[in-house]
Amino acid sequence: MQAAAEILDRIAAGTPAEQALLGWSRGARFAGSKDRAAVRDHVFDVLRRWRSTAALGGGETGRARMLGLLRQQEIDPDTLFTGARHAPEELDADERSAGEAPDGAVALDLPDWLSPLFESSLGSEAAVAAEALRHRAPVFLRVNILRTSRDAAQAALGEEDIVTRPYPLADTALEVLEGARRVARSRAFSEGLVELQDAASQAVVEALPLGPGMRVLDYCAGGGGKALAMAARLAGPVDAHDANTARMSDLPARAARAGAKIRREDKPRGPYDLVLCDVPCTGSGSWRRAPEGKWRLTPEGLDRLRATQAEILREVAPLVSPGGTLAYATCSVLAPENGEQVDAFLSEHVGWSETLRRQFLPRDGGDGFFLSCLTRTD
Ligand SMILES: C[S@@+](CC[C@H](N)C(=O)[O-])C[C@H]1O[C@@H](n2cnc3c(N)ncnc32)[C@H](O)[C@@H]1O
Repeated sequence: MQAAAEILDRIAAGTPAEQALLGWSRGARFAGSKDRAAVRDHVFDVLRRWRSTAALGGGETGRARMLGLLRQQEIDPDTLFTGARHAPEELDADERSAGEAPDGAVALDLPDWLSPLFESSLGSEAAVAAEALRHRAPVFLRVNILRTSRDAAQAALGEEDIVTRPYPLADTALEVLEGARRVARSRAFSEGLVELQDAASQAVVEALPLGPGMRVLDYCAGGGGKALAMAARLAGPVDAHDANTARMSDLPARAARAGAKIRREDKPRGPYDLVLCDVPCTGSGSWRRAPEGKWRLTPEGLDRLRATQAEILREVAPLVSPGGTLAYATCSVLAPENGEQVDAFLSEHVGWSETLRRQFLPRDGGDGFFLSCLTRTD
């Protein structure tokens, strides 16, 4: 609790969360791996609930936010704020009486400027989506169908005491119920039977019109999560491109582990039957996993992202073969980067039609994702 409070103060002063955690962890020789995991969990729990914990804790300090978090969790703070050893100092009378129940955007843990955008983008789903983003995300695995089946992967994980269940959002998805922290060191993982990947991210790839022999490009491949998922479904090669090639540095090793064929393309020429653009976005659909983004985003930042998204769509359109598909995806729930972006593209480009539009919401279980398939008709 005390460590988390100090780290939160550093984050409030502008240090990125991962850097603040690392700085603490280097100096905290007393902390074992379970302590470190617990501190990290506390910090991220508060980051998801930055405003409501401050309201309930009666202040903007890390200590007040931790107090607010305990009150939300209905844990008596006096049992933990004891002043013993590494524990936080005992509460004083002011701290005991401070704090009030949050409402409106504070209760939903949204910045004021974003609250109307959630409303206009999601209508009656806005509050449900914001609420979902205040909770920890489940850990999902993608079963690599190039190497195994979902049942066999589940059994292999079970042998290493990693308990999973099939998750309905995607045919390849498993939700980890026990042993999540051991997945990355497991044999099933190192042998390429499973990858860590959000269930909605998998569902996006499942919704793509992929078929044998198709020429496929992942234009914003990043770490390659979707390129690998596409290669597994195709059982054939996928070209991977990213403006920041360093982001793809782990991709060859991941592809080798998965038995997938990924070819790096620095200057893709096309034509392709399918080009996936998993564009840079606010990440508003995945703020459960990366909650800092919610508080660091500004209206100007959103405008810059929108400009990049539009530019990528314009760049990529000529690479798609006649009859082929441009698949536009974001991990966002905000209309200006989703439907509005696609509508703007369609109004500027003749000879294209939208053949699929889907908004995955956090209430569906995975992250919030948007997918639009645009087919070139000329
Ligand atoms: C949302 S991430 C991709 C995540 C990846 N598809 C996955 O599933 O793991 C967006 C990526 O777009 C890349 N990017 C940004 N601007 C770009 C541009 N103009 N052209 C191509 N890629 C770009 C970024 O470097 C980033 O890796």
